[in-house]
Amino acid sequence: MADRFADKLLTWYDQHGRHDLPWHHDRNAYRVWVSEIMLQQTQVATVIPYFEAFMASFPDVRALASAPEDDVLSHWSGLGYYARARNLHKAAKQVVEDFDGEFPQHQETLETLTGIGRSTAAAILAQSFNKRAAILDGNVKRVLARYHAVPGWPGQTSVLKQLWEHAETHTPDTRVRDYTQGIMDLGAMVCTRSKPKCESCPLNTGCQAYAHSETRLYPGSKPKKTKPEKTTWMLIIEDPDGRILLERRPPSGIWGGLWSLPELDPAYGPEELQYACETELGLTCSDPELIRGFRHTFSHYHLHIQPARLPITGSTAVADSGDQRWLHRDEALNLGLPAPIRTLLTEPEQAALL
Ligand code: ADE
Ligand code: SF4
Repeated sequence: MADRFADKLLTWYDQHGRHDLPWHHDRNAYRVWVSEIMLQQTQVATVIPYFEAFMASFPDVRALASAPEDDVLSHWSGLGYYARARNLHKAAKQVVEDFDGEFPQHQETLETLTGIGRSTAAAILAQSFNKRAAILDGNVKRVLARYHAVPGWPGQTSVLKQLWEHAETHTPDTRVRDYTQGIMDLGAMVCTRSKPKCESCPLNTGCQAYAHSETRLYPGSKPKKTKPEKTTWMLIIEDPDGRILLERRPPSGIWGGLWSLPELDPAYGPEELQYACETELGLTCSDPELIRGFRHTFSHYHLHIQPARLPITGSTAVADSGDQRWLHRDEALNLGLPAPIRTLLTEPEQAALL
């Protein structure tokens, strides 16, 4: 069903939309298809030269189907996501072998081709055959989620279903080609991810997100994975002069290359710390004093840090070496230390409140 949404969008498209992209010329299913696949994860400006070179080498679907795979892949070099190129090549062979080199003109048939999903099939129908078909790529999802204030993350089936329903409703019976290009352009140029230009948007009078100044809430973001919890002992080993043993972390991984405190496996119980110090570090310590533990959050996990003070009684058998040093607190604080270690060394009780 056509509505004012489509009319306003088309009027905007006539004045402000993109009418001169390379795949708008000599428009056919093959060129639209290749452009759509290239544009799936790549910006228009990047795609243009790749598209031109691709068309120069593989001007039609038969040329693509008969090309060696390496040739196809080398035209993709720099675009990334190479599965797209392999699927493109495979689908070209399907078109030649199963459809005599002519792209099918039905949604369901197009979707049987490798790498062509619902939105890409619709884009081919709308853009090359001017058939009524609703598209829903990333730009369109953003426009529709905001316009209708559809809550939730579009990766979720129920959210996606609502967006498809809105996409179907707004798609007009006429000028589908321009409407399709227009809504993608609006998403790319006006209804941008951050700071959408709502004041100059042709849809602003009907837009729910704009009406409530809540454009930032739509589309909803992907739910964060709950991070795993890990635990470690963090040892403040002090010699009789008040120097502390520090270790340099391996160059890669968490706190790579920074100086930190020695750690022990959390499988050791508190009463086993002395023993573990002896066997793992070669140090004879007296009774450990446990300090309040705290949690530090990394990008991929939470680390529960359980600090323990261990005064050593024997000699400082661990010599200074490249990656281990005995340092007074103030010397230690001059090194590159991770923030929670710094806090632990200056205000151990504060660390627990982080
Ligand atoms: N993204 C996907 N298809 C597009 C098109 N035809 N124009 C601009 N961006 C696009
Ligand atoms: Fe997007 Fe703003 Fe237009 Fe709504 S008014 S569709 S949020 S640009």
